[in-house]
Amino acid sequence: MKIAIAADHGGYELKEALKRRLAALNITDLGTNSNESVDYPDYGAALARRVAAGEFDRGILICGSGIGISIAANKVKGIRAALCHNAYTAEMARRHNDANVIAMGGRVVDEATAVQMTEIFLATEFEGGRHQRRVDKLSALD
Ligand code: RB5
Repeated sequence: MKIAIAADHGGYELKEALKRRLAALNITDLGTNSNESVDYPDYGAALARRVAAGEFDRGILICGSGIGISIAANKVKGIRAALCHNAYTAEMARRHNDANVIAMGGRVVDEATAVQMTEIFLATEFEGGRHQRRVDKLSALD
């Protein structure tokens, strides 16, 4: 599975920690590369466009709260970015929403939670069934 990760300055430290902790995975880092202030829409949109284009199977986005960068990603056609806070929301993002991007807040979740959420997000299958109809309705809004 090809995975992309990106963050603004508020998510930079957690992005680096996730890359260290998930080094066995095929993760491409799309920046940012320091704590210097940047604008989260640039990073959310850049990653989302490459996931939507099929270059990556899944994306991981991190800003301070996770809110702004998930809003940015969800503006891109074909992206379902889920702002997650714990194992339950990461699991539901896949099982019910078929999310292709997980977003989180670097100032909200600790490193262990971020690793756990990411592992669940990458391993969990979409349930389909009645959820497919709802996801189709989401796609129709694109
Ligand atoms: C940056 O200070 C902060 O606003 C950003 O990381 C994010 O939390 C926005 O939603």
